[in-house]
Amino acid sequence: MPDSSFTHRKQGGGELPWWRHGLVYQVYIRSFADANGDGTGDVNGLRSRLPYLRELGIDAIWINPWYQSPLADGGYDVADYRQIEPRFGNLAQAEALIAEAHDHDIKVITDVVPNHTSDQHAWFREAVTAAPGHPSRNRYHILPGKGANGEKPPTDWPSVFGGPAWARLPDGEWYLHLFAPEQPDLNWANPEVNEGFQDMLRFWLDRGVDGFRVDVAHGLVKHPDYPDVNHDSGDVLATAKDRNHPFWDRDGIHDIVRTWRTVLEEYPGDRMMVAEAWVDPERLPLYLRPDEYHQSFNFALVESEWDAEDFAAIIEKSTRAAAEVGSTPTWVLSNHDVMRQATRYGLPKGTKLRTWPLTGPFDVLDVDAGARRARAAALVMLGLPGSAYLYQGEELGLPEVWDLPPEVLDDPVWENSHHAQKGRDGCRVPIPWTVDGPSFGFGPGEPWLPQPEDWGSLSVAAQDDDPDSTLSLYRDAIAARRRYCMDDDSLEILDVGGPDDHVVAFRRGSGLSCVVNFGPGVVRLPDHTEVVVRSDHHGHDSADLAPDTAAWLL
Ligand code: NOJ
Repeated sequence: MPDSSFTHRKQGGGELPWWRHGLVYQVYIRSFADANGDGTGDVNGLRSRLPYLRELGIDAIWINPWYQSPLADGGYDVADYRQIEPRFGNLAQAEALIAEAHDHDIKVITDVVPNHTSDQHAWFREAVTAAPGHPSRNRYHILPGKGANGEKPPTDWPSVFGGPAWARLPDGEWYLHLFAPEQPDLNWANPEVNEGFQDMLRFWLDRGVDGFRVDVAHGLVKHPDYPDVNHDSGDVLATAKDRNHPFWDRDGIHDIVRTWRTVLEEYPGDRMMVAEAWVDPERLPLYLRPDEYHQSFNFALVESEWDAEDFAAIIEKSTRAAAEVGSTPTWVLSNHDVMRQATRYGLPKGTKLRTWPLTGPFDVLDVDAGARRARAAALVMLGLPGSAYLYQGEELGLPEVWDLPPEVLDDPVWENSHHAQKGRDGCRVPIPWTVDGPSFGFGPGEPWLPQPEDWGSLSVAAQDDDPDSTLSLYRDAIAARRRYCMDDDSLEILDVGGPDDHVVAFRRGSGLSCVVNFGPGVVRLPDHTEVVVRSDHHGHDSADLAPDTAAWLL
């Protein structure tokens, strides 16, 4: 018996814009494919793999920052928003990539970083070489310090990456960096900043991009009086719930977003913006008003453990919240900032994921369970209404490379946390394309991060023709999603078992239902005429669903 349902069918029979149900594949360009053999992924590598992405069946790619950058934070430290980082390629190649992606019917979303620039950006160079009080300093948050000689930072704000959020300039003033010291925060109270940003959006819209992923969308506006936050923990994300927080989720953000939306509306087609906004779920709808963002990432599944009750609650709440603002939900199981799900789901509940790769205990990791659950979770995400964001390599079932040796770590989190956290490199290890050969086909050179020795068995080539592989599961599910999940946004939550069965089930308007067994015991599949896809390919004929598996039924 259905116990709740939400229906958001197409209105007036018109076509929904692509992003409302789009499947977006996240390309961490540095680790996707390396054409020139320097060990770093690049634009030409990505171009060469577009047929692979086409075959996978995705609608769009989101490319992590590819702009000129010292890569102090993997490219989220942009030195020039109008140039491609030379290690990744050049502008002509980027233009060719956009055109070729469109030829493959793949939209292109680029990542924009408005909260901060690189310390090598021309604006910051100008600001730090100018004397205190010079107008160029007002594009950033550059302030005198506290204490008799200004020797204390202007506030107690912590950096997300650890340590204080202020660094001192040689002339004694301090600049704000909510992330690494190489990422000075822009001052959005200065209209010049937004003017420059809007020009930059037009620069890329003119080149045909279909949308933008907006980094740290909740952080742009700072309290004009710079009050202390009065806490010494680095867990600044938690404080995003505070209604008058000095730097997270301030009301002034929305006026800025409206100006960008106006820019997007100048262009034909369904151009879109998706916000990376870590805010209280109750505040998220504000970002999705009709003249603001088209979408926002919903990180609820990323933050959830493998648990029936949690998944059920997230599906219910996220779908309802999106419906309330006339939008569709978005779903994310992983990205370049979090532990890959094949490992996450193999760890006991309650494990502190950020520190576990250093502290262990390591023998608690159940690799097989993690892999099974990650496959089942894919069927949940791909079967739900709305859009889904896949992170490169999840379609191969790649695990987190949590045991990277400290000497290869590149993420600023490692140094800035004073080695308390290894950081995010474990999910950024270059993709294996071939069973053997240098860097398993990632490129002809030594990859910038080492790949595990057994990585070839997870490569695209190893999985390509294997109907039981995770890659085949994703291909099958994505094809079935096109057929059964994209005509309308309806979702009916099903109650197919007792509360102790640990089963989550839902049905789409097409009649396709998804049943997931989170529990330790085998459960009987509900009545059906056809099994469309199941996450344990081996069990195709079975009327049962093993633990940690999911099935799509008609
Ligand atoms: C969020 C990005 O996803 C992350 O990789 C980056 O470090 C921070 N924003 C800072 O730009």
